[in-house]
Amino acid sequence: MKIEYYHASRFGNGAEVAEEFRRQAGLLGATVEVHHIRDADPRNLPSADLYVFSSPGQWGKPIKRVRRFLGELDLPAGTKCAVLTTEIAPRPDKQTGVLPTEEEQAKWQKVRPIINELLENAGLTRVAEDRILVTEIRGPLEDGWEAKVRSFAEQVVTETVGVQTQ
Ligand SMILES: Cc1cc2nc3c(=O)[nH]c(=O)nc-3n(C[C@H](O)[C@H](O)[C@H](O)COP(=O)(O)O)c2cc1C
Repeated sequence: MKIEYYHASRFGNGAEVAEEFRRQAGLLGATVEVHHIRDADPRNLPSADLYVFSSPGQWGKPIKRVRRFLGELDLPAGTKCAVLTTEIAPRPDKQTGVLPTEEEQAKWQKVRPIINELLENAGLTRVAEDRILVTEIRGPLEDGWEAKVRSFAEQVVTETVGVQTQ
C-alpha cells in the first residue's frame, strides 16, 4: 500500500507531523513518501493508493501555495485522499477566559473547509480529516499530538485497504 504525503510546513511542525505519520503508517504496513509541495508538480504526481494533503493555517485559510497546488491537481476521479492540517490552538477570550466554541471558531477558521472544497472540485474522495494544533505560531505541537497522528494513520490505512480493523 503506497501513500504519497504532501505538506507545506514553514516552521517545521507540519514536517514533524508528516514524519510521524510516515512512521506510524509504516508500522501498519504502508509505504509513505513525504514531500514538501514546493518540490512537487500537482499535474504530475506519482501514483499512489492514497494521497495526504497538509497545510498550515494562515488568516483562517490554507496557505496560498497549497490553495494553488490543490487547484491544479490532476488525479483520476475518485482517488482517495486525506487531510491533516496544522492549526493554532484556540485562545481563551481575554475578558472571560472562555475558549471559543467549535461554532465560533468556524466563523474565521476555514482551513479544512477550503481544502475539502478544492479536493471535491478535483474529484477526489476524502476518507479522513483531522488537525494537529500548535500552541504558538512556531510551535511546539500540542501535548499528545503523536497519539492523534497515530489514530489518523490507523484510519487512513484502514480506509486505504478498505477493511475494518477491530
Ligand atoms: C501570518 C500567520 C497567520 C496565521 N494564521 C493562522 C490562522 O488563521 N489559523 C491557524 O490555525 N493558524 C494560523 N497560523 C499559525 C499556523 O497554523 C502555524 O504557524 C503552523 O501551523 C505551524 O506549522 P509549520 O511549523 O509546519 O509551518 C498563522 C501563522 C502565521 C505566521
